[in-house]
Amino acid sequence: MTRILFATSEVFPLVKTGGLADVSASLPEALCRLGHDCHILLPGYPAALKAAKAAGSRRKTRFREGHYDVALWQTRLPGTAVTLWLVDSPALFDRVGDSPYQNEQGEDWWDNAHRFHLFARVAARMALGQLGLSWRPDIVHCNDWQSALIPVFLADSQNPPKTVFTVHNLAYQGLFSHETFQALGLPDTLWHYEFLEFHQQLSFIKGGLVFSDAVTTVSPSYADEIQTPWFGCGLDGLLRHRSARIKGILNGIDTRLWNPADDPYLDAHYGADYPANKALCRASLQQELKLDVCDAPILGFVGRLVEQKGLDWILGVMKPLLEQGCQFALLGSGEHHYEDRLASIAQAWPAQCSLTLGYNEGLAHRITAGADIFLMPSRFEPCGLNQMYSLRYGTVPVVHGVGGLNDTVFDPEEEAPVHANGFVFRDANPDGLLSAINRALTAREHRKTWRKLQHNGMQGDYSWKSRACEYVALYQSLMNSGGRMHDD
Ligand code: ADP
Ligand code: GLC
Repeated sequence: MTRILFATSEVFPLVKTGGLADVSASLPEALCRLGHDCHILLPGYPAALKAAKAAGSRRKTRFREGHYDVALWQTRLPGTAVTLWLVDSPALFDRVGDSPYQNEQGEDWWDNAHRFHLFARVAARMALGQLGLSWRPDIVHCNDWQSALIPVFLADSQNPPKTVFTVHNLAYQGLFSHETFQALGLPDTLWHYEFLEFHQQLSFIKGGLVFSDAVTTVSPSYADEIQTPWFGCGLDGLLRHRSARIKGILNGIDTRLWNPADDPYLDAHYGADYPANKALCRASLQQELKLDVCDAPILGFVGRLVEQKGLDWILGVMKPLLEQGCQFALLGSGEHHYEDRLASIAQAWPAQCSLTLGYNEGLAHRITAGADIFLMPSRFEPCGLNQMYSLRYGTVPVVHGVGGLNDTVFDPEEEAPVHANGFVFRDANPDGLLSAINRALTAREHRKTWRKLQHNGMQGDYSWKSRACEYVALYQSLMNSGGRMHDD
């Protein structure tokens, strides 16, 4: 049994901006189910502390870290048996709004560097057994820039646990000024391009990439891509240098939360061998969104409205598709210029195009179930969870062939019919997307072909079962190796 401290800045259902939250709940649960002792460490955001207090949880310890008062709460992740620790430091984490990173105007909190620096300091002290707790991890598993300083703090201590750093998205790096570097009191030796300095800025993510014992990314294709200038966000040189200790492990999904056979958000239920009720979900979706209730193909999209998700390409193809009679069911929130442009199309085509702005868990499930085609034309996609949700719900994905999309969606033009489950385009432009959508629309006219694609998708295994075992194997190899994985 391995003891793992899983440090993360978001976890479903307490605080979520994207897939990191889903993975931060479902991977630790899967590790526990495999017999390991995985504890989650999360900043003490108000929603998390409120849930802990409501569950009767207790404060375990109080101490001072730098300028801040800190308390550690021990509770359980709601709905699971997984232990959750909360780093309660009101000066840094007791903030208004639901976002872990931004104020209600959508601006980053001015002191994010201080917030996640403190989080990392506390994690390191906990991992080294300095907080008087009876539990100590063998492995500290860090995720994205918000927990990337933990390996830095552990690297020069006596007998530290091994560290794994998972890159969920290389585009978010936690970059701050030199003044901030100084204000955090980080040692001057770290201000070097081989350590935390990145083009005259402090880079949190470099802490994880340089100092951890192993680096993982959330799909094998993304592990290769980030070592190229096109996808490397300026860090590809460093990543090529560390190549021997980078491993891509595909994300799994929570197959209990995302299951068309008993999804509480749906009016009707179905499965790979009894798909008929999908049609009912489809009609209810059209009613709910006030779209014409008819057989027109419904193209769904759920996600953050940011450049990564290929919104420009979607905007570029909507008009011809609407003219052809297609319907759109869109849900998301993000950059205002995308929200505005999508809203004006939805206004012009009310019977065919619905846009819901904001975060809506139930509607995300109903679009995933009720749409015919799910759009994920991401410019890059470290893994992507929505395409796996849609595959499981018999909603055929149309995706750009990058990252995790490339590893989970298989096009009939590239794969044998027994594996094909969606449509993949490789020309990174609106025409590429449009031609893949048109191929999907043609396939939908052929009932048998379409059913086969849906069936292949629905019976795929997207669970964590085997994927979590890959993490376990990695943890064990690090624990047995005694040192860092060799890279130089
Ligand atoms: P990313 O992490 O890059 O945003 P993923 O596909 O990994 O992309 O995960 C996105 C997650 O967030 C999915 O669970 C998706 O359903 C959810 N999601 C994104 N936007 C919304 C929204 N507006 N309402 C509900 N769920 C959303
Ligand atoms: C990131 C990526 C997404 C991935 C998720 C969970 O937010 O953008 O592709 O699925 O993390 O790993």
